[in-house]
Amino acid sequence: MPVMNTYAPHESGEAIEDKVESLLDEMTLEEKVGQLNQLNGSEHTGPAVSEVDKEAEIRAGNVGSILNVDGYEKRKHFQRLAVEESELGIPLLFGYDVVHGYRTLSPIPLGEAASWDPVAVEEMSAVAAAETSAAGIHWTFGPPVDLTRDARWGRAMETSGEDPHLGSELAAARVRGFQGDDLGADDTVLACAKHFAAYGEVKAGREYNTVDISESTLRDLHLPPFKAAVDAGVGTVMNAFTDHDRVPAGASDHLVRDILKDEWGFEGFVVSDWNSFRELIYHRVAEDEREAAQLALEAGSDMDMVGHVFVNELVELVEDGVVDEAMVDDAVRRILRAKFLLDLFDDPYRYFDDQRRDSTILADDHRETAREIARKSIVMLKNDDDVLPLTDPDTVAVVGALADSGDDVLGDWRAQGNPDDAVTVLEGIETATNAGTNVEYTKGYERSGEAPEPLREQAVEVTADADVAVVAVGETWELSGECSSRANIDLPGEQRELLEALRETDTPVVAVLTNGRPLAIPWLDENVPAILETWFLGTEAGHAIADVLFGEHNPSGKLPMSFPQTVGQVPINYNHLPTGRPAEKAEPGWGTSYIDVPNDPLYTFGHGLSYTTFEYSDLDLSAAAFEMDEQIQVSVTVENVGDTAGAEVVQLYTRDLVGSRTRPVKELTGFRRVELEPNERREVTFEIASDDLAFWTADEEVAAEPGEFEVMVGRSADDIRSSASFELLD
Ligand code: BGC
Repeated sequence: MPVMNTYAPHESGEAIEDKVESLLDEMTLEEKVGQLNQLNGSEHTGPAVSEVDKEAEIRAGNVGSILNVDGYEKRKHFQRLAVEESELGIPLLFGYDVVHGYRTLSPIPLGEAASWDPVAVEEMSAVAAAETSAAGIHWTFGPPVDLTRDARWGRAMETSGEDPHLGSELAAARVRGFQGDDLGADDTVLACAKHFAAYGEVKAGREYNTVDISESTLRDLHLPPFKAAVDAGVGTVMNAFTDHDRVPAGASDHLVRDILKDEWGFEGFVVSDWNSFRELIYHRVAEDEREAAQLALEAGSDMDMVGHVFVNELVELVEDGVVDEAMVDDAVRRILRAKFLLDLFDDPYRYFDDQRRDSTILADDHRETAREIARKSIVMLKNDDDVLPLTDPDTVAVVGALADSGDDVLGDWRAQGNPDDAVTVLEGIETATNAGTNVEYTKGYERSGEAPEPLREQAVEVTADADVAVVAVGETWELSGECSSRANIDLPGEQRELLEALRETDTPVVAVLTNGRPLAIPWLDENVPAILETWFLGTEAGHAIADVLFGEHNPSGKLPMSFPQTVGQVPINYNHLPTGRPAEKAEPGWGTSYIDVPNDPLYTFGHGLSYTTFEYSDLDLSAAAFEMDEQIQVSVTVENVGDTAGAEVVQLYTRDLVGSRTRPVKELTGFRRVELEPNERREVTFEIASDDLAFWTADEEVAAEPGEFEVMVGRSADDIRSSASFELLD
C-alpha cells in the first residue's frame, strides 16, 4: 500500500491511506468520476464553458470541487448539499486564486521576489492562508512558480522572475507558508504549484502562445521551482495551458506522468487549468471531448477544472474498455487523500467559523506583515546626488493619477483585496510627513495615460513651487496579469511627456514606478535623478513607499528580473549561455550582438541600491577541491561602511567552466540577506554541494560534472566584488 508522505499529515500516512481505500471501495464508477470534476462558481478568471445546475450536480455526487465561489454563505451552503444530501457525503474542496493575499494583500509575487527574503515571503503566505481558510476556502491556486525571461508576458507579475534558484527558494517558502506543518490545522490551506510547465516561455511573450524549448531549458530553468515545491510537500500541481514539444501540458505524459509523478514521486493531485482539457481539441491533438478526456487521464492529470470532459466521458471510456479503471482510481485516491489531510471528513464545516473569520480577515497584524514585506520589496534603481531619502522638505509635490489610486496598488490576482482598504502613495506621504510639510497633489495625467495640456501645466506649476516632486508613473494594474501581454513595454501613454515638462523646473524628481513587469525606461534612467521600483505593493503600499522615501526604511530590494534597454533585447537574462562568438572576445563586428543597441540590460538581475555602502572582503573557500558527496564552504565578509543601518543581499554565483553541454556564464547558487548596523561587519558563509551545480547533462540526467568552477560574490549579477575557483572531483 502506498504511504502518503508528500505533505505534512495530521495523522499517520497509513491511517489516511486506509480511509481512502475503504471509501474508494464503496464508490460507484460515476461517483469516482464525480470527484475528478471541478465546477466554476463564477467566471472571474476565464470564459464561461457550459452552464450546469450546480446544486443538482452536487447532490448527485458529480462534483469533487468548486472554484471561485463568491461568498462564505454560498460556500457553506454548497458544502451542506455535498455532505448532507449526496449519497456518500464526500465534502467538497473549495479552490480560489490566493496569489498574494486574500483580503490583506502583499506585493505581487514579482515584487515579493525582489525582497529576496524567503522568511518574509513564508510569513506572508501564512497570513494569506489564515485569511483564506477563515473564509471557508481550503485550497489556493498558488503559488505560481513559473519562471520567465520575457517582460512582455503579462504573467511575469505572478512569477518570481528569471532565476531558477531564487524561484525555487521562494516556491518552497510559499508552500511552507500556505500549508504550514499540518494541513489539518485550521489556518492552513492546500497549495498548488502552477503552471506545469514552462508557461513563461510563450513565444514572443504573447499570452497562451506555443512554447518551443529544449529539454535542457525545461530541466535547468523551468523545473527546479516545481521540484522545490514538490520537495516542500505541495499538495497539488496545475497544468499549463501551453504545450511542450508539441504536446499540450495536460496531455503530456512526459511532463505529468514521467517527470512529476514517476521521477519525483509526487503523490498529490494534478488539476487542469481553466477548461484546458477541452482545449486539447483546439490545440488539435484531440478530435473530440472523448479523446481529450482519455489523453488527459492517461497523461496523469487528475482533476478537470470547469471543462466537464471527465464527467461527460470517463464512465463510458472505462465501460468501453478504452481507459483502465485503475487510472481513475489513482486520480480519485489522490483527491480523497487531500480531503482527509484537510480533515474535511471529520468536520466539513470546520473552515466556517464566523468568529475566526471576523477576527482574522484584514487583522492589524496582517497589515503589519504586509507593510514589512512591501518595504523590503522596493528596489531603488537610481539615486543620484542622494536625492533620497527626503529630509524635512517644506513642500512635496505628489504627481500622477497612480499616486492617488488604491485600486492600482493592489495589482492583479487580488482575490478579495479591496481598494478601499489600500493606502495610496499620496496617503502614505501625507501620513509620514509632519505638520511642517506641505503636501501638494496634482494629477498630471489621466489614468488612461493621457496627459492633456491643462493637467501638465498644473503639474509643472505645483512642481516648480515644491522642494521635491514625487511622481508616480508606470502601469495601471490591468496592464499586467493573465491575458495582459504587451508588445511595448515603455512608460504607458504620455507619462514621459509629463516628466519632460517637469524636468524643465529646477525641482528634483523622484519617480515612483508601478508595474508588473520590467519596463524599458532608458529615458527615465537618463533624465530623472531617483527611481524607486515599487511594483504593485498591495494593501500597505503607500506606507511602505513613504517609509523608503523618508528614510524610515533603508531600501534593500534587488531585481528578480533584468530590465531591458529596449523591448528588442527581450528575452534578456543574466544567466545566458556563451556562444562561439561571444561579443567581448570576437573580432570587432563579429560578436553575438546587435548593431543598434548594446547587449547589456538597463538594470541587471540582482541590482538594487541602498542608503548605505557595503564593502566586501576576505573571500575564502574551505578547500580548493571537493568530491561529489562532499560540500565546500565559501565565506565572505560584508561590512556596512556607511552611517545608516541597512540590509544587504549577498549574492553568490558560480560558473561551470567546461561542461558536456554549454553552461551559463553565471548562475545564482546562493544568497543571504544580512542586516548590518553602521560599521558592523559580518562573515557570511555559503555551502555548495554537488547538487547545487547539477544540470541536464549530455547523458540526460540531472547531475553535476567534475571539473573547474568559478565562484563569484557580489551585489548583483554585474557587480561582482570578489571571485575564486574550485574543482569538483570525480
Ligand atoms: C489561470 C489559473 C487560475 C485559474 C482559476 C486560469 O485562467 O491560468 O492560474 O488558477 O484560471 O482561476
